[in-house]
Amino acid sequence: MADFDPTAYGASGIADEYDDLYRDHWETDAAVESLVQLANGGAVLELGIGTGRLAIPLLGRGVEVHGVDGSVEMVSKLREKPGGDRIPVVVADFAHADAGRGFALVVLAVNTIFALPDQQAQVECFRNAARHLAPSGRFVIEAWVPDLGGFRHNRLVRSRILRSDKMSIETAELDPVAQTIRTTQAVFSNGSVRLYPANHRYAWPAELDLMAQLAGLQREERWADWSRSPFTADSRAHVTVYRLSG
Ligand SMILES: C[S@@+](CC[C@H](N)C(=O)[O-])C[C@H]1O[C@@H](n2cnc3c(N)ncnc32)[C@H](O)[C@@H]1O
Repeated sequence: MADFDPTAYGASGIADEYDDLYRDHWETDAAVESLVQLANGGAVLELGIGTGRLAIPLLGRGVEVHGVDGSVEMVSKLREKPGGDRIPVVVADFAHADAGRGFALVVLAVNTIFALPDQQAQVECFRNAARHLAPSGRFVIEAWVPDLGGFRHNRLVRSRILRSDKMSIETAELDPVAQTIRTTQAVFSNGSVRLYPANHRYAWPAELDLMAQLAGLQREERWADWSRSPFTADSRAHVTVYRLSG
């Protein structure tokens, strides 16, 4: 954990094309709708707020949004958007950052919990989320269910983006002991290739539930997606809502 760098994601240069790269990839409208309902009129803190894919539409729905992010590059893209300059953001590691108040809802979207390098840092993040909850507040986390079936000899190559103007291929290296996957996504468009490395320390939903317990949280809901589809044995991702215990 000593060499962990919370600025690394944005330092890869991805901020310039993050919105375009993932414009069809993440489930934004349903996520915003669900977050508005979960916040129930209260303020929201997004850990890893990034370019504001969720925060800007939440603001548009009248929700008070705050954020934490390790990347000045990602936050500067947020600032360029209408309303982005009105969102208070702490630039720091979200496992430890202090946003200075309690919130009705803390959210950690799109696998960003796995950006933390090990189990200890992820538990710290759950504790930090719990510290930021107002009484009866909720912590909602979106993550994939680890699927290691495609790896052969701990290596995997897969296509990610497949459009006529842009495509990407990701190489991945698995360490099943540390539960880490080291990836590099190569993005091809208009004669140029860019490389975006990212590391993930993955965890199954049950391990996340245990981290929540260590942080004094208990599971309230688990859905397969932001539209609140039932979570089943075939679900490839989950959206899980935790609340302070007792
Ligand atoms: C995949 S992006 C998601 C951005 C946004 N939540 C969304 O849904 O589009 C992950 C974001 O988390 C930030 N991040 C990753 N690890 C972090 C850490 N330990 N502390 C603070 N920010 C972190 C990155 O800089 C990046 O902006």
